[in-house]
Amino acid sequence: MPRAAIIGAGGGIGRACVAAFAAAGWDVAAADLAAAAAADALGAAPGFAQALDVTDPAAVDRLAAVCGPVDAVVYAAGITDTLPMAAMDFARWRRVMAVNLDGAAHVASVFARAMIGRGAGGAMVFLSSAAGLRGEAGASAYCASKFGLIGLVESVAAELTPHGIRVNAVAPGNVDTPMLAEVAAGIAAAEGRTEKDVRAAMVRTGAARRLIRPDEVAAVCLALCGPGFGAVTGTTVRVDAGYLLMG
Ligand SMILES: NC(=O)c1ccc[n+]([C@@H]2O[C@H](COP(=O)([O-])OP(=O)(O)OC[C@H]3O[C@@H](n4cnc5c(N)ncnc54)[C@H](O)[C@@H]3O)[C@@H](O)[C@H]2O)c1
Repeated sequence: MPRAAIIGAGGGIGRACVAAFAAAGWDVAAADLAAAAAADALGAAPGFAQALDVTDPAAVDRLAAVCGPVDAVVYAAGITDTLPMAAMDFARWRRVMAVNLDGAAHVASVFARAMIGRGAGGAMVFLSSAAGLRGEAGASAYCASKFGLIGLVESVAAELTPHGIRVNAVAPGNVDTPMLAEVAAGIAAAEGRTEKDVRAAMVRTGAARRLIRPDEVAAVCLALCGPGFGAVTGTTVRVDAGYLLMG
């Protein structure tokens, strides 16, 4: 049974990835800062749940050690923050970078060593964002972290593909998860609008005129880790319901 490490397993997209990989016959190591959410996501599926703070390199090392041989890694941990640059609070900037980018680098490094050492190839998928392909007002830290993730993926793919390890990014648009609810609540509070109104506006930002379901993102993550995508590496797959088609 192949094993996948899903990091950020307790979140909306991470939880959907756990379900997709488990349904496809994978054993899953489900890791998250919110350990109970990761355990809940795993349920009775084969594997184990583990508390993990991705900003702690020693904790990432420990995760790789308890995982043992891993065939795929999905990095779905992330946080968002909204702050105009003119009012920047660099502690908040650093926090976004620490979780979204530094944590991804720790994970890439530790699991690269493990996969190269094992010599059986593998796959890694990192959750970037449409905000990693186009800048957005008020979201410089988030966008910078997600643009950075794509650079990380392309570089790591160039290093690891000769070892049979494929590395790709997925760039979702507006996915209906707790993170989106948090963003919608923040915008609503800042602009004196209702959350319903903000969500309706988000729906209109994509050509498909709907929010994306977490399982639609998870299906792409799973496919990228499977043999059907054996020639796909160093790419960013947009799962944005046409968000980037709009002006
Ligand atoms: N929801 C969207 O619209 C959307 C769009 C584009 C990209 N993304 C990206 O997809 C990924 C998953 O997003 P989501 O919508 O599922 O978010 P979410 O908030 O539902 O889940 C994020 C998960 O990351 C975990 N996490 C946060 N800090 C952590 C840390 N220090 N260590 C370990 N885990 C930590 C949280 O506990 C949570 O379970 C994120 O990287 C996000 O930026 C989301």
